[in-house]
Order: sequence, then C-alpha cells, then structure tokens
Amino acid sequence: MPHKIGIIGAGGIGNIHAAILVKDSRVTLQSLFDVESARAQAMAVKFGCRHARSLEELFKECDAIFVCTPNTTHEEVATQVLEAGKHVFCEKPFALNLDSAAKLRDRAVRSGRVYQVGHNRRFAPVYKTLKTAIDRNELRPLSVHAKMNRGELVNPPWVWNAKLTGGFLYETPVHMFDLMTFFFGKVEWVEVAARAHEHDELDDFSILLSFQSGLQATMKTYAHASWHFPFERFEVYGMHSTYETFEMERISFTNGLETRTTTYDFALATMHEKWGYIEEDRLFVDALEGKSPAPVTADDGYNVVELIETCYRSAREGKRVHLGAVVGKL
Ligand SMILES: NC(=O)c1ccc[n+]([C@@H]2O[C@H](COP(=O)([O-])OP(=O)(O)OC[C@H]3O[C@@H](n4cnc5c(N)ncnc54)[C@H](O)[C@@H]3O)[C@@H](O)[C@H]2O)c1
Repeated sequence: MPHKIGIIGAGGIGNIHAAILVKDSRVTLQSLFDVESARAQAMAVKFGCRHARSLEELFKECDAIFVCTPNTTHEEVATQVLEAGKHVFCEKPFALNLDSAAKLRDRAVRSGRVYQVGHNRRFAPVYKTLKTAIDRNELRPLSVHAKMNRGELVNPPWVWNAKLTGGFLYETPVHMFDLMTFFFGKVEWVEVAARAHEHDELDDFSILLSFQSGLQATMKTYAHASWHFPFERFEVYGMHSTYETFEMERISFTNGLETRTTTYDFALATMHEKWGYIEEDRLFVDALEGKSPAPVTADDGYNVVELIETCYRSAREGKRVHLGAVVGKL
C-alpha cells in the first residue's frame, strides 16, 4: 500500500514537494490543506488529489505530512502533526528560538515517528561532491571561506519582516549553518559583527566560526546583494588544495601543486535535482519504509537554531560566544 501523504501550505515549496512526490510510486499525494482554502483547492486540481477543509480532515486521510507553512508556524503546526501520530517532513527553519527548538526536538524524539527537517542543500550534487571528498579524505579541510547572500528582501513580500522570518539568519543563510556543521562538525565558538541597512533588522553579517576540530571558517552573509552569481559559495582549502563551489551549479577543485583543475558542472540537471529536493524527498520516503533513518533529524534542526542564536548573541554583545552559552529565547 502506498504511503498517503498530505501537505500543509499550498505555496511555493509545497508545490515543489508535490511535483516530486507525485512521481514516486511508493506514495500517494492524498490531500492538501491551506488556511487560504482557495490555494489548496487550486493546487489539488493541479495535482489530482483532494483538498481538506480542516487539519482534522487531513490527518484522517494521511500517514505522513509535509509542513510547508511560513517559519513562524513550524513549531505549532509540526507539533499538531506529531500529536495526531503522523510522520513529519517540516521545512526549514526547525524553530525560531532555542526554547521552541528544545520542545519540538523532545516531542519529535518521544513520538517515535519519522521527523525530517528540510535542509535540502545536503542533497545538492555540488554539496554531495564536496562532502564525499571530505569523507574519503581526498580533501582534509584546514581553512574555509564562504558566503551566502540574498539578492533582496522584497520577494516574497513578507521576507523583509523579522517578525515573520525570525530574522535574516533564519531566512536564507539558515542553509549555510546546516552545511557548515554537516561538512566540518561541531562549532566551538563564533565571533560576529553585524549591521542593519534596512527595515531595522541585522542584514549584514561577518562571522568567524571556530570548530571543535580547530578548523576556522569565515562567512559573509548580506541581504541586498542583487542576484549576482554566485550568491552562494564555499571555498574550502586543504594542504595545497582548494575546492570551490558556484551556487549549486558547479564545483571546481585543484588537488596538489602543478596539477589540473577539475570541474563538475550540473547546469543541465533540473532545479529540483540541483537543489537537492528530489533526493531529500526520496530519503524521507525511504525512512517511512524503514529502509534508513531520516537523514536530517530534529537534533540537526536544533543544532542549527542553536548556532544561529549564538551568532545573534555574539553580534549584539560584540564578543566571542561559545556554543552552549545561549539558553532560551534571547
Ligand atoms: N528548503 C528550501 O529551499 C525552501 C525554499 C522555499 C521556502 N522554504 C520554507 O518553506 C516555508 C514556506 O515557504 P513558501 O515560500 O512556500 O511560502 P508561501 O508564502 O509561498 O506559502 C506558504 C503557504 O502556507 C499557507 N499558510 C500560512 N499559515 C498556515 C497555517 N497555519 N496552516 C496552513 N497553511 C498556512 C499560506 O496561505 C501559503 O499558501 C517557509 O518556512 C520557507 O522558509 C524552504
């Protein structure tokens, strides 16, 4: 019997997951719910599934739910899904402060259900190539320089509003914090300088991260850069080697002195593949089938929230802050 999947939130990312899920024969896209019911209705017509008039109706019809609602709702909606006994895939960010993150992590663990966080970039071919090089010891990272900019805080129309996003770091750069720990392990401390250029919120960060391994990384993230390519980039330096990513389009590396540079170019892949969405959804269904655990857990989600809160505290206090020093909502 195919797993019956429901989606809450019939917006941009809800449509992406729906388009991928309808191609997986192991699942049925059963039903959709949105507070704006016309949106769920239109999307249900597009994907040939039902739309539910309430969460209760959705829960009756489905075994697993994708939570694709705005950032501020994740903790509440994901909690409702867990309380209904359903498996959860919830978009990033996991939560918007440490109290919420701790509560949700505990609920997720206690529930015994699959809980996966939508940190899709781990599954982008560019980042999988980098991770494989690290895991196989082809690259031993000794130093890192990275950036993740946004072009604007104009679209979607709520993206400038820190009350709705949780703050700029919870919007786009949230992905970078997940990748940093995915590639390089636990962070020991951060030192952050930040400024506000618009909307009275910190939107320009210079971040120094020191990892437990001793590795140091610098990271820049700025909200109004225009979509100048590449707005997202890692440069990872080993001994006489550099790996450099260009968005999720390509990765180049030079391993050794007086050698050639190799480039893998994923430009011809679909956006859903390049951005890792297809693989994260496939792995979620694998987890539903008991083939493998969820690849991005509630613990991973919590760790990203902790890292972001630590960065905000360092920026506000103008000093180095160790991970573990931030407890509760700031
Ligand atoms: N992983 C990624 O690459 C990625 C990309 C885009 C968005 N996201 C995340 O996905 C989430 C949704 O983003 P989006 O761009 O699809 O937003 P969106 O505004 O396009 O869609 C959100 C939908 O949720 C509905 N909604 C709002 N509150 C609701 C509630 N309580 N219950 C049911 N429906 C509700 C809205 O009516 C809307 O249709 C955000 O948290 C965002 O950060 C992740």
